[in-house]
Amino acid sequence: MTKITIAIDGFSSTGKSTVAKQLAKALGYVYVDSGAMYRAVTLYAMQNGYIDSAYFDKESLIAQLDQISISFKFNENLGFAEVYLNGKNIEKQIRTLEVSQFVSQVATVSEVREQLVKQQQNFGKNKGVVMDGRDIGTVVFPYAELKLFMTASAEKRAQRRYDELIKRGDDVSYDEVLKNVQSRDHIDSTREDSPLTIAEGSIKLDNSNMTLEEQFEFVLKHSDEKIRDV
Ligand code: DC
Repeated sequence: MTKITIAIDGFSSTGKSTVAKQLAKALGYVYVDSGAMYRAVTLYAMQNGYIDSAYFDKESLIAQLDQISISFKFNENLGFAEVYLNGKNIEKQIRTLEVSQFVSQVATVSEVREQLVKQQQNFGKNKGVVMDGRDIGTVVFPYAELKLFMTASAEKRAQRRYDELIKRGDDVSYDEVLKNVQSRDHIDSTREDSPLTIAEGSIKLDNSNMTLEEQFEFVLKHSDEKIRDV
């Protein structure tokens, strides 16, 4: 059967990765979490002292970009690919609120974007890929056969993220999570390089009041239609 490219963009914590993972599994496609790659670079910057709450040494990070190797390895038990930074599994470390607080700044750096976009395009060169992020339908795969744009209210998204962090045992408050969601929305949509916008031809999915099953049915229906059309 002909394989297509599926781009899923949207605001932070809209549940893109949950839907994307399910969809990739159902279609037998590869799932790539592009946000995890920006998070990996952010973790590297934090570990090397290039970013903290007071400053961001962009130039040092840019100078070290060729020292950063990001890869994904499928975990049979989890049913999805985990992210590795220079050979080390960092899947858990990149999901903390601390990384979330710095990642949008790191994602404004054009040199970082250029390197990650190249790698993302390479992952998708044989099609049969579901990738989620902010610029997948606009920059990474502008010719994707199916583009979805996911959204939900900031409060709903913050509640979902808060529940996730609490379940993991993180010590966070709802208010700081909401602030982080709002601040990332702002930085992601107003940055100069590849801001978050709705790609032409995208299908919008506002999941504020939808169950996971309803969202999955929605995306599967649209994918099946596109696959039939190509
Ligand atoms: O999807 P996420 O929350 O894990 O993404 C983390 C950050 O990375 C997000 O705030 C913006 C940035 N990002 C981006 O700029 N472009 C992408 N394709 C994916 C993520």
